[in-house]
Amino acid sequence: MALVRDVAELRLQVAAARAAGKRIALVPTMGALHQGHLSLVALARANAGFVVASLFVNPAQFGPNEDFARYPRDEKRDRDLLQQAGCDLLFAPSVATVYPAGFRTQVTVADLSERLEGKARPGHFAGVATVVTKLFGMVQPDVAIFGEKDWQQLAIIRQLTADLNLAVEIRSGPTVREADGLAMSSRNAYLTPTEREVAGALPDALAKAAAAIASGREVSDALAEAERAMRTAGFTAVDYVALVDPETLAPLLVLDRPARLLAAARLGTTRLIDNLEVRPEPDGCHE
Ligand code: PAF
Repeated sequence: MALVRDVAELRLQVAAARAAGKRIALVPTMGALHQGHLSLVALARANAGFVVASLFVNPAQFGPNEDFARYPRDEKRDRDLLQQAGCDLLFAPSVATVYPAGFRTQVTVADLSERLEGKARPGHFAGVATVVTKLFGMVQPDVAIFGEKDWQQLAIIRQLTADLNLAVEIRSGPTVREADGLAMSSRNAYLTPTEREVAGALPDALAKAAAAIASGREVSDALAEAERAMRTAGFTAVDYVALVDPETLAPLLVLDRPARLLAAARLGTTRLIDNLEVRPEPDGCHE
């Protein structure tokens, strides 16, 4: 696996792969890799002859009081994992390469970015949208793969790709979970052993709410019940539990189409997010 830090060298290697008739896949990451990321690399491998992963802890998507400084970083470990997973090239640029002096452009996806996570993390999605647009420009992939765990991020990237006519296909990979259902996340490393025991209550509450809504329970009741269950289990705060349209992220008060159930909750200083698909059951009552 090649390790490349500069854009000119990246372009040369990608152009050589393309000239050899290979389709180019990109898996953008911020490192601290886990099985979730590696499943995206496997999906990339299945979709392309040349797989690029990027590793860049993007300062622009962290708020002033967020965890940019302490975000887990171990490039050597990430490199080894990517190599074993069959990645062809790791692009690991510096901050000055991505945001050189004089950089002035910001990509914002209106409306979608202000909902849910956007309320708790103002500016976060402009940082994500800007860096993802830059990565698409630098790597010029045919296909880019994102995890469904960050559902709102995925919806925003799909929207910006369509809005800006970017010639990249967006694919998603399902959330990979621990044995108790907790969605894999680089931030799980922040949890204390006690918090880690509590954390499984989030996917559990979501799964119960999803099943209840699918079988016809009043949406607002099921959401309130999920929030109560998380608080009772020991979550310090529940930022939201919401049933939304999977593309527009507009709230749904009744399950009148396939929907997405999203939640964010805090355990001490750690904020966890998760989501599940909810489909109306054929015999459920959804008035
Ligand atoms: O999901 C992530 O790890 C990041 O938000 C991404 C897409 C790599 C952009 O920095």
